[in-house]
Amino acid sequence: MKTEKIRSLFLQFFKEKKHTIVQSSSLIPKNDDSLLFTNAGMNQFKDIYLGYKKINSSSFASSQYCIRTGGKHDDFKKVGYKPYHHTLFEMLGNFSFGEYFKEKAIIYAWEFLTHKKWLQLSKKKIWITYYYQDYETKDIWLNIIKLPSDHLIAINDKNNIKYNSDNFWKMGDSGPCGPCTEIFYDQRKKNTNIENIKNSNDLKKNCLEIWNLVFMQFNQIKPNKMIKLPIPSVDTGMGLERISSILQNVSSSYKTDNFTKLIQSIKKKIKNKKKNNVSLRIIADHIRTSTCLISENIIPGNEGRNYVLRRIIRRALSHGYFIGLKKPFFYKLSKFIIHSFKNINSDFNIYNKINIIRNILFTEEKQFHFILKNGMNKLKKEIKKQKNNILCEKKIFYLYDTFGLPIEITQDICKEKKIIINIDKLNKIIYLNKRKQKKNKNKKIKKNSYLMLITKKSIFDGYNERIKTTKVTQIIYNNNITSCLKNKCIGILVLEVTPFYGESSGQIGDSGEIISKNGIFIVENTKKNGNFIAHIGFMKNGFININDIVYAKINIKKRKIIQSNHSATHLLHSALNKIFKLKVNQKGSLINNKYLRFDFQYNEDITEKNINQLEIIVNKKIQKNIPINAIITSFKKAKKNKVIYLQSKKYKKIVRIIDIENFSSELCSGTHHQNTGQIGFFKIISCKKIGNQIKRIKAITGIKVIKYFHKKIKKEKKIKNLFINNKNNIYQSIKKIINNINDIKKENQKLINQNILQISKNLISKAYFINKIFFIIKIISYKEHRIIRKISDIIKEKLKKAIIILINENNFITTFLINITQNIIKNINALKIKNILFSIIPGQGGGKKNIVEGKLINKKINSKKIKKIKIKVIEYIKKIMN
Ligand code: ALA
Repeated sequence: MKTEKIRSLFLQFFKEKKHTIVQSSSLIPKNDDSLLFTNAGMNQFKDIYLGYKKINSSSFASSQYCIRTGGKHDDFKKVGYKPYHHTLFEMLGNFSFGEYFKEKAIIYAWEFLTHKKWLQLSKKKIWITYYYQDYETKDIWLNIIKLPSDHLIAINDKNNIKYNSDNFWKMGDSGPCGPCTEIFYDQRKKNTNIENIKNSNDLKKNCLEIWNLVFMQFNQIKPNKMIKLPIPSVDTGMGLERISSILQNVSSSYKTDNFTKLIQSIKKKIKNKKKNNVSLRIIADHIRTSTCLISENIIPGNEGRNYVLRRIIRRALSHGYFIGLKKPFFYKLSKFIIHSFKNINSDFNIYNKINIIRNILFTEEKQFHFILKNGMNKLKKEIKKQKNNILCEKKIFYLYDTFGLPIEITQDICKEKKIIINIDKLNKIIYLNKRKQKKNKNKKIKKNSYLMLITKKSIFDGYNERIKTTKVTQIIYNNNITSCLKNKCIGILVLEVTPFYGESSGQIGDSGEIISKNGIFIVENTKKNGNFIAHIGFMKNGFININDIVYAKINIKKRKIIQSNHSATHLLHSALNKIFKLKVNQKGSLINNKYLRFDFQYNEDITEKNINQLEIIVNKKIQKNIPINAIITSFKKAKKNKVIYLQSKKYKKIVRIIDIENFSSELCSGTHHQNTGQIGFFKIISCKKIGNQIKRIKAITGIKVIKYFHKKIKKEKKIKNLFINNKNNIYQSIKKIINNINDIKKENQKLINQNILQISKNLISKAYFINKIFFIIKIISYKEHRIIRKISDIIKEKLKKAIIILINENNFITTFLINITQNIIKNINALKIKNILFSIIPGQGGGKKNIVEGKLINKKINSKKIKKIKIKVIEYIKKIMN
């Protein structure tokens, strides 16, 4: 029985049962953001299920086109590898809203499948599943249909989560849902052996699910919350391709009449010798889906539905490439699906749109071809390199991230070549990366989200102009477009023409004023996104209305300093190239009204001499007062003339060159002086390494340089004033002081050493002697902790067996040291003594058996406490050494 015939029989059957026959709805659900694509026949009735829409007739039937890729029901990855899965398929369904419920739904399905007037399937080959708590359904199958009880299987919840079951159907993360009963057809060739099918695993192995009868009872409103539907309803779905495969007695829906025809046409068209059924099936499935989606006005893109379409097309193209189709082929295949869609009951208009569809596919194909060629070559190389048939997940991600090779394509190719991938690890990498991207995106959007709201373009006319009379074309307040900005409100104005430079090319935005007859807006910053320019600021007084004629006036003083810094940056860039005799690779720049910053790649150290050279070159060019010209030309020409430009940046066909005669020629959209002389002075104030081989120069220009020197001179004067004599040779004076200090230090050290020795001797003479062990405990006071370490070392040298506890108390911190001679650490443990110490004076510290150091929390330690410690330690020594 042909597919067409099955579809029409189904609709005829339900027409006879008084159902209203409806068209397949669009693949794009109307007014429903919860779904990307129509994924079931019931979608178009969602509002009726939920009770939002009242209807006259209460039972319907349809043959609905569904897409199951993306969202809750996603078969994308199975396509090609599994015989019965498609990204687009036709679903036959009947629906009832209060007219009938479980009993009639089951009776109808049974009649249509088994009655001799309809499909005449053998009853013996039919198996049924039901939701284990749905006793009513069980009863209907057993007692009304008289199904043998061993053909009926109860399906439980998974992981003990209520309604988390194959027999509880949900439309998506929200929407109508309910228990279901599924009809399976036994596909085993030989006669059925009942014993073999006992559970859902046996079923999946031997039978094909053909029809799902859902009894809608709930509305899922959020992940763990369901509410009852106003009326229990019926929703059924039978895959047309699947039932066709049974009636046509073939082992895959790809072998049914419509698909066979399509695959044959594809084979003929691509004249491909390399046989690969998986790839052919993928191409066949995906041409159907992409053609239908484009006919519904979806075009390939990077987000949402558009992205799903792109993903499908690219997967098909990759499989084409894989089987040797190295030139565009896919776009030629759309026409082959027209025949199977010509009799369907829907608004699809593939026939009329076939040329548009071909064009869109061709453009996408051409675009992807380059990525594919590059990526596939890289993948091939990686696969060749593998020794154990394992491809590292990081490599897969790298191919995707750097060369754009879709991950599922790499997965498919690896599957074919039997290369193993650790999917969990790969998913983790993808997940982490997505999270990172999302974070960055959110940050960016939040920061500049107002730029996204601007829809009116502005003309920038501020290279030579400082004031413009112009019109307000858009006002943004509180992240909304509005018609008036009121007094004291912070907001954004968009102007028809503007002298304000929007932050770009490393140059910060202008500030200034926008004055209307009703008020003054202070522009604090100007940002741009392409031709959209945002003047960000606040109403100083009065108000501004949309369409007001205004004077836009930039802060000239600020702009002039910015210009000095920008023109000087170009001079610096060329000077760097000159002294290092190579093109330094610019890595970024910042030009504001305080300084200029220039980052570049240079492997060697930059010396003081280099800095002096740079300053001299730039200042000489300033002195020469060379004209700075802006030249508009083509990017091609500019490149030919060896103009400096950023390799990493994308330029338009027509570009602007800033040319400083015979010295610097650089692509730039920023604002500049007319002559280098206007820069005044140039001074580098720092040069640092900021990353792997990246250097950063910070410099200042104009009056700022003079002020910089004023500051330096003032500092120098202050230092000079510290000296009474020899004021004019501070270098000598300071050198002398340093020498003196060093002498004093040496002298002091000598005295300390003598003192230490004396103290050590004193301590030794006062040491306790217990069980042949000397024991010293003492509070002393030195600036540095290391002194008590020295003292204890001296004592250790003099006494054979000794336990030394020294506490160093100074104004800031109290430290301690417990030191034990090596020959007794078998018995006496410094860590134990530390515990004794801490039991009386709390502290922190650690070390080894022979030495422990740390600090004590009590700053002032009295002799009583020391006595207590002494007694306890003596007790400890006695106990151990006895
Ligand atoms: N809506 C149900 C399904 O898609 C019938 O399985």
